[in-house]
Amino acid sequence: MSFRSSPAITGTILVADDQASNRELMQELLSHEGFEVITAPDGPTALEELSRAQADLVVLDVLMPRMSGLEVCEKIKANPETYLIPVILTTSLSDKQDRINGIRVGADDFLSRPVDRTELLARVRSLLKLKLRTDELERAESVLFTLARSIEGKDPYTLGHCERLADYSARLGEQLGLPAEQVTALRRGGVVHDIGKIAVPDAILLKPGGLSKEEWKLMREHPVVGERICAPLKSFRYVLPIIRHHHEKFDGSGYPDGLRGQSIPLAARVLAIVDVYDALTTQRPYKRAFSSAEALNTMREEVARGWWDPDIFCQFERLIRNSEANVLSHGATR
Ligand SMILES: [Fe+2]
Repeated sequence: MSFRSSPAITGTILVADDQASNRELMQELLSHEGFEVITAPDGPTALEELSRAQADLVVLDVLMPRMSGLEVCEKIKANPETYLIPVILTTSLSDKQDRINGIRVGADDFLSRPVDRTELLARVRSLLKLKLRTDELERAESVLFTLARSIEGKDPYTLGHCERLADYSARLGEQLGLPAEQVTALRRGGVVHDIGKIAVPDAILLKPGGLSKEEWKLMREHPVVGERICAPLKSFRYVLPIIRHHHEKFDGSGYPDGLRGQSIPLAARVLAIVDVYDALTTQRPYKRAFSSAEALNTMREEVARGWWDPDIFCQFERLIRNSEANVLSHGATR
């Protein structure tokens, strides 16, 4: 069976092994199949190489001096820059404990020593195929983030709004004990929630004064447009309700669906509160930036009026008070 017959999968593979003969053998095997190979004689060098070069896959010997393959794997998986790179650990067939520890530190696959050529190539190709898909997904997400930031960048008054919203919404979500996928959705939602403003003309988006009835109508379409833009991305499925419902109000007077109370998705209620706070504490052409205390007072009145979820607002006040540095001091929303 020839592996050359399958569609060409290429990539850069980092091989870390303290035995020179093992490194050379692996390098020869993988280079022969068209892969770029980088080698490292120990763990620290492997991590250094990884910070310098873009590797698509890492093969680590478990037993290495200075730093074991398990430790290197753990560091790779703990670093947001590298955690998506698949890691194969090579270990002796009999060492079950190595494999259990390997799973614990996030290894993606294992290879028994002595390494079998066919098995090595099959595992490498399978993981690289997966990595290719992850890369595509990452690229699609990063296009959306770039688009969202470019919309934010149009308005000098909204500078940094997305990042602050992402940070504070995720922190508020954590404080409320939301599951990890909702916290991640809040972080993403913070950046992309206003992406639908791409459909709003600049003359309206950047208008210094109030908006006419017609202009408001267009502006109020941005949550639905934003949801439509992000809908094809499966990894954004928890973000979509945040985008669509971030302008709903607790008493049903918000838009686009006029949802009320608990029927507004929880994560959207979280983002709405952070969004409004950021807008209040931001200078706009028609208003000065409120202090944190003033913004919270205003929002307390709005909670009494029925606009915001009182329980979430209560937690948000705690979050703000507990924050040593109040970084939410610039931003805007509409
Ligand atoms: Fe918005």
